[in-house]
Amino acid sequence: MKLIGTEASQILASRIADELGTAVVDVKFSRFPDGELYVCAGGLDDEMVIVGSIVDSDSLVQLLLLIDACEGSHNILVVPYMGYARQDKRFKAGEPISARAVALAISRGADACITVNIHDRKVNSYFGISATDVSLAADIGAHIKTMDLDDPLIVAPDDGAAAFAETVAAVGNWDCDHLDKTRISGDEVSMAPKNLCAANRSVVIVDDIISTGGTIATAAGMLASQGARDVHAACVHGVFTNGAYARLKAAGIKEVVCSDTIERGCSQYSAALRIAGALGR
Ligand code: R5P
Repeated sequence: MKLIGTEASQILASRIADELGTAVVDVKFSRFPDGELYVCAGGLDDEMVIVGSIVDSDSLVQLLLLIDACEGSHNILVVPYMGYARQDKRFKAGEPISARAVALAISRGADACITVNIHDRKVNSYFGISATDVSLAADIGAHIKTMDLDDPLIVAPDDGAAAFAETVAAVGNWDCDHLDKTRISGDEVSMAPKNLCAANRSVVIVDDIISTGGTIATAAGMLASQGARDVHAACVHGVFTNGAYARLKAAGIKEVVCSDTIERGCSQYSAALRIAGALGR
């Protein structure tokens, strides 16, 4: 078995290879003069693990090209961050089910797929192959333990993240609660007022994705108004679009951390061990 990764996932692919005690394949990435992407993979194995987070259109195309380059091998696809997963249904007539379109496109040429905290596990049923999701909730809990916070309160910003937050909180037997979010637009949310007993406590808001930061900033504002001593944010996928990281720091959040499903300067925990586990090693 060997690993191969897109440019967006080269560090995580190498970490998974280290966990598995195997090699990562060298890939030449370039562009044709008209801007089209080109890849050329080094020595392949008859069993390949192809790692590629879908963070933008180029990373999706690179993933498709790597899958095709691995034709003839038994290919396990690893999609640490599955972009397009949030458009998981047709919200209005004329829209695509983007999650399904992308899942089907990357299934061709792969034999099985592993995702990490995919936005909704029902998206896994859109792949044309067996798809398994692994969760980093316990890894976020382990990271929070290292933060040396005194009896922190773990908060999910919405009902959808409540079970995730409970798994995080179980690591340290910490208190856990959730807010009730309503999305107004792509970067605006509102939260129903709720008293979370945050006064004089350290609070860690946990979520699967931080994209525009609107969700976390709004939750942090409510917690600060309730007298929280300090507010931290931890997520799996740090998308941080439109300056979201700076927006969160400006909103007074003490620390913002994410995993390496999207490789960032604030990636503090790795998905490598969980993915290696799902690969059966
Ligand atoms: C939504 O259901 C997700 O779990 C996240 O809460 C959401 O994607 C965060 O987006 P943003 O950072 O743009 O508020």
